[in-house]
Amino acid sequence: MKAAILASGSGSNLQAIIDAAATDDGFGVDLALVISDRPSVRALERAADAGIPSVVIPWGGDRHAFTHEICEAIADTGCEIVVMAGFMRILGPEAIDRFPNRILNVHPALLPAFPGGHAVRDALAHGAKVTGVTVHFVDEEVDHGPIVSQAAVEIAADDDEQSLHARIQAEEHRLFPAAVKALGRGSLTVEGRTVRWRET
Ligand code: GRF
Repeated sequence: MKAAILASGSGSNLQAIIDAAATDDGFGVDLALVISDRPSVRALERAADAGIPSVVIPWGGDRHAFTHEICEAIADTGCEIVVMAGFMRILGPEAIDRFPNRILNVHPALLPAFPGGHAVRDALAHGAKVTGVTVHFVDEEVDHGPIVSQAAVEIAADDDEQSLHARIQAEEHRLFPAAVKALGRGSLTVEGRTVRWRET
């Protein structure tokens, strides 16, 4: 199966997926396209270094038009899986309709705790002792779809946003490629909110 990866920034999760695809013979997912809403980001360099075609689709202020353009780029490349790897834009309903239970997102908290764009900062500000990582399917609500995998990360007394995010990202880089592989191999089934993993 072909996957399109959407990334807005550093792309360390993209890199983890590239590395998994390169080193795991059974990965089974062809990384066919990287889409960024921003030019000149590290994620685009990582795509180029890995020989993956990329396209920049800038946010133009209209969510429907933006989502349509992204969906067309994904479909034109024959991708059936969409991976949101630090993509800082919300896709409109067209994407969920066209790729139902085929869009994965990684979120730096244990959902449903701390949704939104400042999850690491919010967990610290709340005085939480444990936070973590959630990989989930994307549905019509933000940071809400069925949960594929989670890992907990303890918050240390002297953590700041940077130190905590670094430990969260180490877990992301472990969980996210595994989820992409499982989706590509048809190992994930969704029943309501419950995602079941099947050995293949
Ligand atoms: C990750 O921490 C992810 O959870 C959040 O954005 C960050 C992206 O990091 N959605 P990177 O660009 O993959 O390094």
